[in-house]
Formats: sequence, structure tokens, C-alpha cells
Amino acid sequence: MPNNIYVTRQIPLSGLDLLQRELGGFEINTADKQLSKTELKAATKGRDAILCLLTDAIDGEVLDAAGPQLKIVANVAVGYNNIDVPAASARKVIVSNTPGVLTDTTADLAFALMLASARRLCESERVLRAGKWPGWGILQFLGQDIGGKTLGIVGGGRIGQAMARRARGFDMQILYSSRSAHSEMESIGARRVLLDELLKQSDFVSLHCPLTPETKHLIGAKQLAMMKPTAHLINTARGPVVDEAALVEALKTKKIAGAGLDVYEEEPKIHPGLFELENAVLAPHIGSATTETRGKMATMAAQNVIAVLKGGKAPNAVN
Ligand code: DGY
Repeated sequence: MPNNIYVTRQIPLSGLDLLQRELGGFEINTADKQLSKTELKAATKGRDAILCLLTDAIDGEVLDAAGPQLKIVANVAVGYNNIDVPAASARKVIVSNTPGVLTDTTADLAFALMLASARRLCESERVLRAGKWPGWGILQFLGQDIGGKTLGIVGGGRIGQAMARRARGFDMQILYSSRSAHSEMESIGARRVLLDELLKQSDFVSLHCPLTPETKHLIGAKQLAMMKPTAHLINTARGPVVDEAALVEALKTKKIAGAGLDVYEEEPKIHPGLFELENAVLAPHIGSATTETRGKMATMAAQNVIAVLKGGKAPNAVN
């Protein structure tokens, strides 16, 4: 049994301890480094369970290499666009994710990026660190207030709702766009509108939708052109939801005022144009990166593996 669980990369101990306690062990890639596809296929061959991270692309080829005994692929992330779910379903493999436990942590980061972008926090820090600050000036680094402004939330799910709750506390007006209405959003006071209207009316646009074929490049040149020149775009969802080249162009030509990004189209590659922009706040995909939350995510993924290998249902199955 122990060797039939493969953990593709280091995860918080809470998850590993649980696997050890409940199932007697596991094998793990002890290097905190992404495996190549060849390594992944070799390491997962013959396993009953794979516990993986969003940096692992689990497609039909990897599933076939693992073999027909594979029962579950447990992702330590709420987003699971790295896994080919239809391919897993076709092979009767359960896919699970970690919803709920990272909601507030991710919304905190989205809010932090919004404030940092609005108040030019990173740009001004760079000047200070470079020893170029001449001292206080009344016209220096003038940013924008967020109180009384309109926040447009794309996606009405858990993290979007948590963002809306935070925005209420800052007296913001809230719009959201989503395929379906969310009563939780309405009770926070958010009004559902079409995406185009949201883009035109919002002072801040924050993305909280999953990456699917429908949402790839949901925000491109056309959508950026609809935004106000004073508006900021915040992305803590997935990089490919935004056309990064179009965003660079919009920021460079001041079609929009700023962006706060935690995710990128081809991580870990970043569009070189972004580095040159003072009006882009850039974080390295740290939306859920707190000790508490990452521990809960690891535990949750382990619980899914344990449930399935003990013959039960994965509590967080997505297929
Ligand atoms: C997720 O869970 O999908 C985040 O991107 C990483 O925590």
C-alpha cells in the first residue's frame, strides 16, 4: 500500500503526516521542483493515487502511464485546469481539489494587490529603496482612493464573494458578472451585470473565475479598451484568463491606470514588458500562500486520497 501513493512535490507536513498515519506511507519527490513529463510518467507508474500540485500537467498520457489501477488524482489547489478532467473521467479516475480553505487568504491577496496598485505602493517603494526619494512632496506618488469607487468582480463564486465582503467594508459599490446569479452576492449588495457593462463602469476589476476554454483570454485588447483610463485590473485567478501581451500594451499606453497580478499566462515565464512597467504590481502566485492555508490544503488533498483508497467517496471530487 505505501508505495502506491505518489506525492509529486514537497507539500506541508500536515498532509504527509495524515497519509502516513492513515495509509502507512507514500512516496514523494523530495526535491521541491516540478517533475518533467517523463519523470512524472515514470514516478506515477503503477500508483493507486497521485497527490499533485498545480504545476503538474496531468493529461491522458500521464494517466495512461500510471495505469488502469489509478483511482484518484488529488490536486492541492482549488483550480484544476492542470488536470484533464474528461480524460480522467473516461478512465474512471476521480479528480479532487481543495475548495473553501483558501477563499479568504486569496481574497486578502486580491485586496492587497488592489490597494497596492491604487496607492502605487511598489512603485514608490522602488524609488525609496534606490535611494532616489528626495523627501516628502505634496504632489508625489498620488494614487487613487478606493472608498466610494466601483469594484467589478468577474466570477460570483467563493473567492469573488469574499472579495465583495471586503469591498463592502471599504464602502465600495460592487458589480459582478457570472454565468448564473449568486444569492450570496446579492445579499452582500453586489449587482449582477454583463461583463461589458462591468468593464465600462468599474474603477477596479478583479478576476475570480476558473480557467476554462470559455474564459481563456476573457480579458483581451477589446475588453481592456472598454475599461476606464483610471481603472485597475487585478488577477489572482489564472494567468491565461488575460491576454498578457494586450495587457502590457494597455498599461504602456495608459489605456488603463494599473494592474495587480499574481498569476501569469506561462508561469514561471513573465511577459518581459511587465517588468518595465511602473504601473504593474507583480506577485509570484502567492494567493493562498500562508502557513495556515497551505497546511489546510495539504490536509484536504490527503483526506481525498484516504477516502478513496479506503473505498469511500472523495469529499471534494470534481468529476
Ligand atoms: C489554487 O488553489 O488554485 C491557487 O492558485 C493556488 O493556491
